[in-house]
Amino acid sequence: MASNPSVSGQADPARVDFDPVTLAVAGVQRLSPYQPGKPVATLERELGITQAIKLASNENPLGPSPLAVEAGHAALADAHVYPDGNGFELKSRLAERHGVAPEQITLGNGSNEVLELIARTWLAPGRAAVFSAHAFAVYPLVTQAVNAEARVAPALPADHPAQPFGHDLAAMQSRVNADVRVVFVANPNNPTGTWLDTAALEAFVAAMPATTVIVVDEAYFEYVEEASYPDTTQWLDRFPNLIVTRTFSKIQGLAGLRLGYAVSSPGVAELLNRVRQPFNVNAVAQAAGLAALDDAAHVAKSVAINRAGVRQVSEALREMGLRVIPSVGNFVTFDTGRDPGPVYDVMLREGVITRPVENYGLPGHLRVTVSTPEDNDRFLMALKKALA
Ligand SMILES: Cc1ncc(COP(=O)(O)O)c(C=O)c1O
Repeated sequence: MASNPSVSGQADPARVDFDPVTLAVAGVQRLSPYQPGKPVATLERELGITQAIKLASNENPLGPSPLAVEAGHAALADAHVYPDGNGFELKSRLAERHGVAPEQITLGNGSNEVLELIARTWLAPGRAAVFSAHAFAVYPLVTQAVNAEARVAPALPADHPAQPFGHDLAAMQSRVNADVRVVFVANPNNPTGTWLDTAALEAFVAAMPATTVIVVDEAYFEYVEEASYPDTTQWLDRFPNLIVTRTFSKIQGLAGLRLGYAVSSPGVAELLNRVRQPFNVNAVAQAAGLAALDDAAHVAKSVAINRAGVRQVSEALREMGLRVIPSVGNFVTFDTGRDPGPVYDVMLREGVITRPVENYGLPGHLRVTVSTPEDNDRFLMALKKALA
């Protein structure tokens, strides 16, 4: 039988010079992909171990609300039907919660998608985004992917008394000019766990020109208990160029379903709606997210366990003589005082997955997600062994 040239495994001689990299847009050529935390199943497969724990992606150790699980299961029965592309029920519920109109909500496949939609809407070659050093890794990714300039402001110094490595709003503001269409602010920031108070952030937002969209990323909003921590969704009437992003991945424990959203002025939401895919948020995520909003007890329990865990982990690390960045999130980043690679590796062999954050400009540091008292103990024991 004559062989089919298309499946012979031989490259077409006219195509041997095909190089997808040089053909890619410049931003993508330079892009380093996002590095996710190592999944438990991968580590267990690689090392032939069981009972590993992942403290690498700031997930909720309590899992999702049982109400969300039940609603998600029920929604699966209608999996043959496309989801509501407008997310009517979920948007209505979120709008009610934030005291805004449903036209001010944009749903995303995780808040990461919302960040990407923002970049695709306002950034392009010749335009710039400003964000801080050590800020969440997705800001440079979405900026570079559309060939815009990433203008990185230096962060507060390592020895800052309250917010080491935190956002320096004055430095960020000084980098904003007419080319800057987007400013990304993470409050609190990942991986530092540092935060901005109402007075400082409000003054910053008020100082932004009308040519700049300000994104305040509040992925860890629910964990923060500081009295002067702002709810920026309340500022939208005054600042139509403000976008607030939130997620169901953290306190709601729905990271695997990919659900996040933006609250903004209706004009901003209308533009984001133009660039998103028609069915960007699946039906299971919409149903589970809606049900999760009814479970205030699950949120309260998650906050309480996190509060105790942050204290447990931070104090133990300090007792070990390690420098800890004070965190208001559900994770703690600390300086191992050495190359963290071998430390990370020893802990992996103990079945504990953490996150090196060298790629965030924090050499020597590791980030650990705060978990149950037992998991936190396991992490601390593994770390002691690794540092011994
Ligand atoms: C600061 C910050 N923003 C946004 C996200 C994205 O979350 P998701 O896409 O799961 O909503 C994360 C996740 O780690 C984060 O740390």
